[in-house]
Amino acid sequence: MILVTGATGTVGREVVSQLLAAGKKVRAMTRNLAKARLDSRVEAVKGDFNERDSLARAVEGVERIFSLTLGPQTGIHEKNLAQAAKQAGVRHIVKLSAMGGDEQTRNVIRKWHDEGERAIRETGIGLTVLLPGAFMSNALHWRESIRAQGKVFSNYGDGKLPPVHPRDIAAVATRALTSDGHEGKSYPLSGPEALSIAEQVEILSGAIGKPLEYIPINDEAARVGMAKAGMPSLLIDALVPFAQFIRDGKAARVFQTIQEVTGRPAFTFSDWARENAAAFR
Ligand SMILES: NC(=O)c1ccc[n+]([C@@H]2O[C@H](COP(=O)([O-])OP(=O)(O)OC[C@H]3O[C@@H](n4cnc5c(N)ncnc54)[C@H](OP(=O)(O)O)[C@@H]3O)[C@@H](O)[C@H]2O)c1
Repeated sequence: MILVTGATGTVGREVVSQLLAAGKKVRAMTRNLAKARLDSRVEAVKGDFNERDSLARAVEGVERIFSLTLGPQTGIHEKNLAQAAKQAGVRHIVKLSAMGGDEQTRNVIRKWHDEGERAIRETGIGLTVLLPGAFMSNALHWRESIRAQGKVFSNYGDGKLPPVHPRDIAAVATRALTSDGHEGKSYPLSGPEALSIAEQVEILSGAIGKPLEYIPINDEAARVGMAKAGMPSLLIDALVPFAQFIRDGKAARVFQTIQEVTGRPAFTFSDWARENAAAFR
């Protein structure tokens, strides 16, 4: 049995469906069973990273876990999960972390994940760490301004980054959860090409069939926009300095890990844009 946490989210939903396609028995965790809309073939379990008893039930009889935690509580949440897993005899955890600079330039989000990673390592359970860069699906944050004004506002300037398709992250997770040789590995995950926001907007424009304009903005305007969109201030504080990193060209590196682990090329931003065009119309 494989437990998928974050099973209702962008990556977790994909992990669930790819594990099912591989013929695996899946238990999917959510805080709200009524809202979860999980595949009828999974065993759904109610669980919350804040509630240790719920985690003890979720990991019962489980061999491997896909661990998806988020936010500043990541360290404590993953510690709760890892300790329950240790008690239950789980032998392998695949953790979704984040790319986030080297020792000197670590961003805050990666630091949250490092705490979670440490907590898992302390239990001695086998660990695989996935280190994706920006998700292609972050473009969904542009939905409103695209629908209303045909514009995309960003503080990334001309900086390039290779966004990664969530389905590819899930594909690597699925491989790691279903085949041997991934324990002790860390996998940096990027899409196949580094693109500026202007280039992403051009691709999206072609997929939607509507002219779009990229409007560069400064960090302060970006901060205001994120707050208006309801983003928690802790996350805004974590994301704004990251824009400078991108503008400086430090986030442009393309990794081949998806091809290496899955044996097929990574999906392109054009693929993602075609699949998701309807969301912007
Ligand atoms: N977006 C990016 O560009 C990017 C880049 C690198 C790394 N990441 C990492 O990717 C992760 C986010 O992945 P995602 O976008 O797939 O997530 P998401 O779509 O936001 O989904 C979050 C999931 O977490 C579950 N969850 C939230 N709080 C929980 C709690 N207290 N207990 C149990 N489950 C809880 C939710 O389940 P229920 O609501 O059903 O309980 C939901 O399934 C984060 O760790 C982030 O750091 C993101």
